[in-house]
Amino acid sequence: MIHRPRRLRTTPAMRALVREGALTPANLIYPMFVREGISEPTPISAMPGQYQHTLESLADAAREAVEAGVGGLMLFGIPAHTDPTGSQATSPDGILNRGLRVLREAVGDRAVIIADLCLDEFTSHGHCGVLDSEGRVDNDATLPIYAEMAVQQAKAGAHMLGLSGMMDGQVAACRAALDAAGHTDVAILSYAAKYASGFYGPFREAVDSQLKGDRRAYQMDPANRAEAMIEVELDLAEGADVVMVKPASHYLDVVADVSAQIAAPVAAYQVSGEYSMLEAAAANGWIQRERLIAESLTSIHRAGARMIATYWAVEAARMLRNSL
Ligand code: PBG
Repeated sequence: MIHRPRRLRTTPAMRALVREGALTPANLIYPMFVREGISEPTPISAMPGQYQHTLESLADAAREAVEAGVGGLMLFGIPAHTDPTGSQATSPDGILNRGLRVLREAVGDRAVIIADLCLDEFTSHGHCGVLDSEGRVDNDATLPIYAEMAVQQAKAGAHMLGLSGMMDGQVAACRAALDAAGHTDVAILSYAAKYASGFYGPFREAVDSQLKGDRRAYQMDPANRAEAMIEVELDLAEGADVVMVKPASHYLDVVADVSAQIAAPVAAYQVSGEYSMLEAAAANGWIQRERLIAESLTSIHRAGARMIATYWAVEAARMLRNSL
């Protein structure tokens, strides 16, 4: 036998020497939730270890994440009042915009502050856009609202906007509005290939979602792989700086396709259901929790994602630091 691949696996140093690349804490994005009208952080039962924050606890948790080395903080807001057009999303005093100011004040430029840009937390019907007279999500009527959200989020201090609504033309609409308002340096992370996934289940509790029905008329069909490239290319042409694939673990083929075909940075979102399933199995003693956190993140990185949004960001950052 001439070829023995096991030679390069003999010691930890040998394995480290030939490792194809490793994730660093700076590549991790921590999704966080701020809720209006609560006085204490509220645990999210389906996502053990995650909280709906007050403005105060948000600042503390953000500082802790940055101390651990996490590179990005992605904020979702839960308003006390919703309405059909999601008016709290564009109000400068809406909870998300207030939370963004708190985050920027707390961490400055030490982490990339990313605002979730979507209407679903703010609308009384829970859809990501406004509805037409037939009750369908009205793509073109939603775009000016997203554009105004973009400007308010930039004013509130976001470095990057995470466009998660899956409206056609949303990147172009937000880019034009940002530039017209002088925010030429605020970057756009577009959820380009976002699938209509059951893995978002626990997130619905996290944001008190009012949705009845589903999002299959605007998010992608889980059966479609080639279509992801159409979405990605459109978003890049419209001015996206980073494109995201979501969910991550069950969509690694898509992460790999996109990463291989474009030069722009690719992000992947390890979503709530991916987190909750593993936490639940670990709580039952069925799997080794830390080992699988590391393995799941490594797999997403191996598929080509340069950055990963994960609810384990803080813990994983500490694990990565300790392993260096
Ligand atoms: C919608 C949005 C969702 C998630 C992030 N942004 C839910 C959805 O599209 O239904 C899910 C994130 C997760 O499950 O962790 N703006």
